[in-house]
Amino acid sequence: MQMELTKLRLFFLFSFAALIPCLSANISEVDEVWRRRAEEAMQTTEQYYDPNPVAIASHLNMKVQDLSKQTAARRGLLNAESGQCEATNPIDNCWRCKENWAENRQALAGCALGFGIKATGGKGGKIYEVTDPSDNDMENPKVGTLRHAVIQKEPLWIIFAKDMNIKLQQELIVQGKKTIDGRGANVHIANGAGFMLQFVQNVIIHGIHIHNISPRSGGMIRDSVDHVGKRGQSDGDAVSIFGSSNIWLDHLTLSQAHDGLIDAIQASTAITISNCHFSNHDKAILLGASDTFTEDKKMQVTVAFNRFDKGLVQRMPCVRFGFAHVVNNDYNQWEMYAIGGLKGPTILSQGNRFFASDNQNTKEVTKRMNCSPEEGKSWIWRSEGDVFLNGAYFNSSGDPKKQIEYQMDDVIKPKPGTEVERITKFAGALVCKPGQKC
Ligand SMILES: *[C@@H]1O[C@H](CO)[C@@H](O)[C@H](O)[C@H]1NC(C)=O
Ligand SMILES: *[C@@H]1O[C@H](CO)[C@@H](O)[C@H](O)[C@H]1NC(C)=O
Repeated sequence: MQMELTKLRLFFLFSFAALIPCLSANISEVDEVWRRRAEEAMQTTEQYYDPNPVAIASHLNMKVQDLSKQTAARRGLLNAESGQCEATNPIDNCWRCKENWAENRQALAGCALGFGIKATGGKGGKIYEVTDPSDNDMENPKVGTLRHAVIQKEPLWIIFAKDMNIKLQQELIVQGKKTIDGRGANVHIANGAGFMLQFVQNVIIHGIHIHNISPRSGGMIRDSVDHVGKRGQSDGDAVSIFGSSNIWLDHLTLSQAHDGLIDAIQASTAITISNCHFSNHDKAILLGASDTFTEDKKMQVTVAFNRFDKGLVQRMPCVRFGFAHVVNNDYNQWEMYAIGGLKGPTILSQGNRFFASDNQNTKEVTKRMNCSPEEGKSWIWRSEGDVFLNGAYFNSSGDPKKQIEYQMDDVIKPKPGTEVERITKFAGALVCKPGQKC
């Protein structure tokens, strides 16, 4: 009886985890390979979901504070000796001012902070140099193309031989243990499909431009060296994270997609989105897309040191169910709201700078959707050390007496919002030359 019950439960888990998300992801044929991937992904979500999220949030806060002390003490020295290199936050400080970054690219893998801290990408793997910007064969991608690089099974550190514009014919389905490292080249993924990280772990995408992304019809696409599958239409997200964990997106320049710039859905977790520059698009970041998919409670995402620039309308981010730590970001004249949510998500907003537009109707940073006022008041949405300009205001909620439990006794606050312009000064893809500080 017990056995039967367990089996039944397993079956249930199975069909819930695998089938529903797969179908909604437009995998036209849900075969054994996708079923196994879905199942494994759900297990890793479980593994990387942190039952004490604030410990990770405070780890990041400590680092920001440490750096500020150092920088205050050494500012004169740093400026005098480096000239061009000015790391303004603890993630950048981990690598940007080292001249040998190009010989030691994989050192970047240790630099993530926040929920994506464990993302190692292609660390320990070979360097794969993309030499060919074409994307013509979906089933048998040519050696030297980005698509050929990302379908490999082993860890790979993917770099670019030269500046290139890559127009993806269909969504780029990325296998786990990959770093896509645009440093040293001016790489644009544009005018075609975007990235799809589906049921994978350990992906880092760093230092590229992604823009003008549109939906594609789908069809037969190779998603790994040993698997080709039929896909339905893709949504036209710049980066879509689906049932995946340990993901770090850093120094991306993102604008204009058909759907979202970054979507993380279906119990994706352990994600950091940092140092990115967002502009000119309606929907920036969606964390959780379904009102009924309660597994998204396990979603934990850090949004840090980003610049949300003009021309954005909403979702910076918008969260369902999960937890978002939004720290030291610069918000500039959103057109509807900045941070939104549904289904009782937890929002910890610290040390951001919110500059509202002149429109009297869009002064509020926050937006609670599909809830009664009573329900909205119970969600924990907290603002600490944020700076509000031009009439911007944050509508806090949740029991203010309910302490978010910190692990460390002397947790230091993130940098105040007044420092954010400097902290986010280098958001977006950087121009880096080998042999020079970046
Ligand atoms: C699936 O395809 C349909 C049409 O074929 C499209 O409307 C829908 O947006 C697609 N969904 C996803 C998640 O790509
Ligand atoms: C703040 O949010 C609560 C809950 O949704 C709502 O009832 C209240 O009217 C809001 N206050 C302001 C000033 O917008």
